[in-house]
Amino acid sequence: MFEHLPIAPPDSILGLADAFAKDPRPGKINLTVGVYKTEDGATPILATVKKAEVKLLNTENTKGYMPIEGHQEYLRGVVNLVFGSELEHGRVAAAQTPGGTGALRVGADTVAKHFPGTRIWLSNPTWANHGSIFQAAGLETNVYSYLSSDKTSLDFSAMIQDLETNGRRGDLVCLHACCHNPTGIDPTLAQWEQIAELLAQKGMIPFVDFAYQGFGDGLEEDAKPLHTLLKKNSEAIVCSSFSKNFGLYSERVGAVMLVSTEASKTEAALSQIRQAIRCNYSNPPRHGASTVATILSDPTLHSEWVSEVNAMRDRISQMRNMFIDGMKKTGIDRDFSFLASQKGMFSYSGLNNMQADWLKNERAIYIVGTGRINVAGMAPQTMDTLCNAIADCLRATR
Ligand SMILES: Cc1ncc(COP(=O)(O)O)c(C=O)c1O
Repeated sequence: MFEHLPIAPPDSILGLADAFAKDPRPGKINLTVGVYKTEDGATPILATVKKAEVKLLNTENTKGYMPIEGHQEYLRGVVNLVFGSELEHGRVAAAQTPGGTGALRVGADTVAKHFPGTRIWLSNPTWANHGSIFQAAGLETNVYSYLSSDKTSLDFSAMIQDLETNGRRGDLVCLHACCHNPTGIDPTLAQWEQIAELLAQKGMIPFVDFAYQGFGDGLEEDAKPLHTLLKKNSEAIVCSSFSKNFGLYSERVGAVMLVSTEASKTEAALSQIRQAIRCNYSNPPRHGASTVATILSDPTLHSEWVSEVNAMRDRISQMRNMFIDGMKKTGIDRDFSFLASQKGMFSYSGLNNMQADWLKNERAIYIVGTGRINVAGMAPQTMDTLCNAIADCLRATR
């Protein structure tokens, strides 16, 4: 039987990471993979994570199974971080999941089981894994417009028009709470209000992917779009990932949160989420969630962690500005200042597939073929090399 299995297509971004690792050229630069990096190219363990782990090593006294919905103190911390005082926490059925990916899948499984045929609207473009996750769960995926034709800003009227014209009551709308991946282009708060209004009017339900809290404008500021949606919409699904803002990529820490119209509905929602988890991975891993719970529940660690998140965000924003200035200095007539208003680790650079190939082949600089760059992969010491290479590429490919 298995001899008939065909080879699945490779993941394009991970394929580039492989090619980068094998590239022998000195001075190569990798702006592809979605992880935070320091100036030295490291993806470090946060100091607060190390401190929490020391604490856990000394106090943890069991590796017994976790409850199906996960670590209770962690969940209280997460619900606080995500909803603050904007919403009665009793309306939230929350479960710990293996990363944000696990949250998206459990949320989608729960909906698909009880509301077969449900459709979900995805921004065009969106994170490459969204379509596969939702389709694997049995949801029907459709896309709504997001980018302007020059790929440097949001085409808000096209987005609204698509949802207005094609959306139906009961459809889910997948929205990136902040730091849209892959474009870095987010709606303004005024635009979020219009999105909230439209969804409420049409009876569509926000399915919010919150993978970068703290990487846009700040931990609290980044939750405002979600709070804006919830002011007008009484139901939602929210999927958080703590891979980036705690640097806990490989520990797989996330949470799915289903917001019901009233607290009396939460028990049923949680029981269904538990069922979706039970037949998938049974119960979640302990370590990452215990680490996050330790940090969030200790006021000193909590405030140190906020500073660490702020430092990551500041470094990314410095790199954005340094890149814009660096491109100006090359004298090239392409203006990159639109990158300044983009948020988070990623940006659409406006470069095309052919230019991405040129940069890889001629200069050992790796970016995704769509033009997406990971700004967190930039460093001051290589900025001139990068900018000169992009300027040369633009001249060579005009
Ligand atoms: C938009 C978006 N959602 C979800 C995820 C999944 O995060 P995790 O690694 O925690 O599964 C990512 C990760 O890159 C992402 O960019």
